[in-house]
Amino acid sequence: MVDREKVHALVREAKSESLEEKDILINTLHKVQDYFGNYIPVEAAEIVAEELVVPKSKVYEVLTFYTMFSTKPRGKYVIRVCVNLPCHVTGGREIVQTLKELLGVQFGETTKDGLFTLETTSCLGLCGVAPVIMINDQYYGDLTPKKVKELIENLRSGGDAR
Ligand code: FES
Repeated sequence: MVDREKVHALVREAKSESLEEKDILINTLHKVQDYFGNYIPVEAAEIVAEELVVPKSKVYEVLTFYTMFSTKPRGKYVIRVCVNLPCHVTGGREIVQTLKELLGVQFGETTKDGLFTLETTSCLGLCGVAPVIMINDQYYGDLTPKKVKELIENLRSGGDAR
């Protein structure tokens, strides 16, 4: 059961922070997703639609268009691996392999401990430091399998994704 009052408060907060009308929905969805831990329950999305007086279909459209949003529970850390060519040919393949081995999951899956979800992304605009991944909102470039192992170990031991 989703706490309607909490979603209502997040909508209010987003409204007060958004400079333009068109940013309110996205800003709200970010806040709701952060609150629920990297995903947006369908019930919460419906409350957002009611609170903002926008059609539910509009909210679903935004949720499915932007890969940063998910209506499926995801891990505490969402790892997005750039799979476009510049990253792929500069070691991205090894990064993917290392992550899959370390985490024991495939793309689209979450580790059993609920810590990590592995996803793909298209170019993050940082090809100059390829290969690149994102962990939640943080970018990591010039990666090697060794650096990836260190990052994952750090997060597993309670470190920050920064
Ligand atoms: S191709 Fe990976 S950041 Fe551009």
